[in-house]
Amino acid sequence: MNDPNGLVYHQGEYHLFYQFYPNDTRWGPMHWGHAISRDLVHWEHQPVALTPDDKGYIFSGSIVADTHNTSGLGKDGAIPLVALFTYHDPNAAAKNTRNHESQGLAFSLDNGRSWQKYADNPVIPNPGDTQDFRDPKVFWHAPSQHWIMGLSVTDHVQFWRSKNLIDWQYQSSFGKGLGAHGGVWECPDLLPFTLPGSNQTHWALLLNLNPGGPQGGSGIQYFVGDFDGKTFTLDPEFANTLQHKEAVWLDHGADNYAGVTWSGVKDGRTLFIGWMSNWLYGQELPTHPWRSSMTMPRTLEMIRTAEGLRLKSQPVAELETLRQPLAFTERTEADRLTLQSNADIMQSEWLFEFRLADQAPALALTFSNESGEKLQLGMDDGQFYIDRSQAGRSDFSDTFAARHLAPLTLSDKSLSLRLFLDQSAVEVFVNDGQLSMTERVFPTRPYTAVHISGNATLIRKQGYKLTSIWP
Ligand code: FRU
Repeated sequence: MNDPNGLVYHQGEYHLFYQFYPNDTRWGPMHWGHAISRDLVHWEHQPVALTPDDKGYIFSGSIVADTHNTSGLGKDGAIPLVALFTYHDPNAAAKNTRNHESQGLAFSLDNGRSWQKYADNPVIPNPGDTQDFRDPKVFWHAPSQHWIMGLSVTDHVQFWRSKNLIDWQYQSSFGKGLGAHGGVWECPDLLPFTLPGSNQTHWALLLNLNPGGPQGGSGIQYFVGDFDGKTFTLDPEFANTLQHKEAVWLDHGADNYAGVTWSGVKDGRTLFIGWMSNWLYGQELPTHPWRSSMTMPRTLEMIRTAEGLRLKSQPVAELETLRQPLAFTERTEADRLTLQSNADIMQSEWLFEFRLADQAPALALTFSNESGEKLQLGMDDGQFYIDRSQAGRSDFSDTFAARHLAPLTLSDKSLSLRLFLDQSAVEVFVNDGQLSMTERVFPTRPYTAVHISGNATLIRKQGYKLTSIWP
């Protein structure tokens, strides 16, 4: 599998569709797989929702609940769930006609259990020679009373709008020459945020690109600005940031891509999930008989920082229901504290709070196993890092074993870390998610100890075992 698709919350259920090739662990003719959760923690696999047809593979897209039946596709009071996705025609692509991507529509009248493709697809044909024309993300914009679609088109995002989800009109383009352009732009998502304690709306445009991500390969950048129903304009302070920074990244790890948010969420949260991989090596990762997974679901919030408006990401609160006590012994040797557990910590959550030294603050947290493999992370020279170069297997790719750096701006001397370890994944949230890093790791034996050292005082430590989400 790869990208999350069609994220929608409807009638008590979170739907997660995703790019899926059922017949192999490598990318192939794309379907939409499907899973449902009532709590964002426990998931039930569903039958494949959309299969390729003579118009092509089913690439990424989104779903909205058409509550007022603007599409007219509803019947007998059933609210239609409407999917907008990209048709990718492999035969046309092979001929290099550049017009092989268009936008299709499908709908469900039984809460996403079965899907019908719209008879008159595509609803947005390719303009004729536009090679990358894909990943429609749709939302209802109440002020202008229109559905809005963000569409990624090679090196920019196009905004289209519609009254009925079927007839679409082009409105504007954003992004040429702005932000990171090391690769093709994919999977846009335009989102409104209200700052805590204010009633002002600011918009963020999530934009995935591959390659050209913060650690090479795939990555998610975002832009902060304003949206008037037709045009997205950059916030002046954010525009200024882009004068001296290539991009602002949502996640600084190597393995969070194609991330988008749920539509239809009514509790005020912005809920996000990403594909926990990278096109650099996503098809080579040593897992069997499966390949690829999503990040944990996260909430996104916009906050004002010294550098301007920024997004922070945190794991959803529902995940706390998985916590189980975790016992460990403590040992201090030469300024290094070791937490050793008899339990399996390959499925665990950790909370640490530190007070950093005034001079040369530094911090190293090392997860290690009995084979001497170690996953290291911490702070060094004003930057945060994750070093997976000796964390376990890396023979499947030339680029995997690496030390990844992220800029870390501290407002004072405190540093909090929340970290999830899940067999082959580590997800780290620094200072309430002002910085997040998501990385895959493949230790050949379970890590059994955590070592902590550095020029910092440990104020709090807490570890939890996490119960499996599968029955
Ligand atoms: C992103 C992406 C999308 C496309 C899909 C194809 O990972 O390349 O742009 O729709 O994957 O599987």
